[in-house]
Formats: sequence, C-alpha cells, structure tokens
Amino acid sequence: MLTEEIQQIRKESDKDFSSVEDVRKLEELRIKYLSRNGLLAQLFDGLKDVPKEEKPSVGKDLNELRKSLTEKYNSLKSSLDDKADQSKDEIDLTLPGTKRVIGSKHIIIQTLDEIKSIFKGMGFSVFEGPELESDYNNFGALNFPHDHPARDMQDTFFVSKDFLLRTHTSPVQVRIMNKYKPPVRAIMPGLAYRNEAINARSYCVFHQVEGLYVDTDVTFAELKGTLVSFAKQFYMDDLKYRFRPSFFPFTEPSAEMDITCFICKGQGCKICKKTGWLEILGCGMVDPNVFKNVGYDSEKYTGYAFGMGIERIALLKYGIDDIRRFFENDLRFLKQF
Ligand code: DAH
Repeated sequence: MLTEEIQQIRKESDKDFSSVEDVRKLEELRIKYLSRNGLLAQLFDGLKDVPKEEKPSVGKDLNELRKSLTEKYNSLKSSLDDKADQSKDEIDLTLPGTKRVIGSKHIIIQTLDEIKSIFKGMGFSVFEGPELESDYNNFGALNFPHDHPARDMQDTFFVSKDFLLRTHTSPVQVRIMNKYKPPVRAIMPGLAYRNEAINARSYCVFHQVEGLYVDTDVTFAELKGTLVSFAKQFYMDDLKYRFRPSFFPFTEPSAEMDITCFICKGQGCKICKKTGWLEILGCGMVDPNVFKNVGYDSEKYTGYAFGMGIERIALLKYGIDDIRRFFENDLRFLKQF
C-alpha cells in the first residue's frame, strides 16, 4: 500500500518540479511536499502501520524520496535566486539616461534681483516687512485721510477692522523710520494685495519695490538723478524720460516717472495707449506729516520716496502682454526667461 503511494508521489512530484518557473511556484511545492504537514510527512506517518518485516525497505524508499525531493528543491531554489540577483544587477547601457531638469528663477525674481543690485550699487540697503499690516502703518501713518477711497473695502483686503493685507510696500517705510534714526537709505521689495477686478493689466497680488532716502538736505534733484540712473541701467542708456506732477498722500510734491515707449519709440501704440509714454513709478518728497508720525524732525530732515510695480516694470521690459502670465506658472512661459 505505502509502497504504491510512494511510487505515485514520486511520479507526481517529478512532474510538478519539472514545470517550476518561479519562486512562488517553488514555494507552493515545498509546502505541498516538504512542509510539516506535507505529503512526505504523511507518508512517514504511515510507516508505523507497515508490517515489521517490510519496514526497512519501505523506510529506505521513503528516505530516498525525501532526499531526492529536497535536492530538487534546493537546486531549483538556488538557480532561481541567482537569476533574480542577476536581473537586479543588470545595467542596460544602451538605454537613454534620465535627464535632470534644473529649474530657474522666476522672471519676477530675476527682475527683482536686477533692481536690487542696481540700487545696492547706489548705496541702498534692502529691507522687508510683513504682508499682513495694520491699517495704521498702511494708511494712517502715511497721511491717508480717514475717508480716502483707497481704504474702501473694494480696494483693500481687510482681515479685521484694524488689520489688512498691505495694499502697497509703503508701510515698510514707516517701519524703518520707527526703528532707525536718519540717515536711512533703503529699498523694500515685497508683495502687495488689492481687491481689484482681474484683467490683463491688473491682478489681486503683485510685487512692488519701495525706496526711501532721508537725511539732512535731500533734494528733489537727487530723487530725479537716482531714478534716472536706475531707469538707464535697467532699460537702456539712451532712454528718454519725463517726470509728471502727481499726487500721493505721503509725498509733497509728488510725481510719476514715464519713459518713452520702446515698442513704438514714442510714436504711439497699443501698449502706451497712443501716448508714446509708459509710466514706470510714483515718487516724491516725503510729506512732513509722515515725518511727524514717525517722530522725525521735519525741520531738520528731508527725504524722498518712490515705489514701482515689478510686474509692470518686467512687462514693459520684456514686452509681455498679460500680467496674469506671471502667476500662472505655465512652464511654456517661464522657460522663455
Ligand atoms: N505706494 C504707491 C502705490 O502703491 C507707490 C508710491 C508712490 C510709493 C510714490 C512711494 C511714492 O513711495 O513716493 O501706488
């Protein structure tokens, strides 16, 4: 009886082991034949019912079967393991390499860097202030009357009654003057927010660079000299410019600086709205009321301030037609710079 079973299992296992192709299948066979409850163990169990005189020969057959199954298992196992190791180490040198993409600075940051380096060259330091500002620093200290339209909910993102997202970088001037005694000469780059309708020309968030110089005897001529020098370095040396009278609550007198439209060379086109001029910044002499608010002696000190929008400056320099491009992060746009 047992002898026949041994025969049968030998045949079956021959067939099973000859078709093994992977480790998983081999493991199934190990469990089937060689595990503690496997077929081989069951056969050994049956040995106790074999008549005494047959035991030695049946026992020998069983031991031989165990030996041959174990050998088969071991040799298949090691050859399958070798194969797995080999495929792990294999390097196919004909495959194309993985290209590493190196990012680049956003065009706005590049423009900011350029502006910073020009002003640093003229003796300005760089300061930054928070984007969440008090109503006082953003408006009050800068001489905005209480009923000034800029304070309107329509323009300003208020966070609470007294706090807001700054609508310009000018409040950093207030922070600097509250902290340092004159002379101060600094530029202040950063983000500003306005609750405006979004279109090709305006966006709800944008970058500005603010400038401030306070000392004894600072004049409007110095303001002009500094800004003209900046514009020539930033745009081109033979640039044509003009200063137009304007109004800002925190400067008196105030002006806006225009440069000739380099698209139409002053002839008048769509970009310059047929005027031949492009406005690039606002500026003026610091209003004595602002000095009073920060505790500077307005009899002793004078100063100038200016502010420009970076998107606007970059838009004009690179002939970009839509301010939204700067915020979309479309690689087809960003890769051009
Ligand atoms: N804060 C102004 C704005 O957002 C820009 C500006 C104009 C800043 C004149 C100044 C300045 O410092 O003197 O439109």
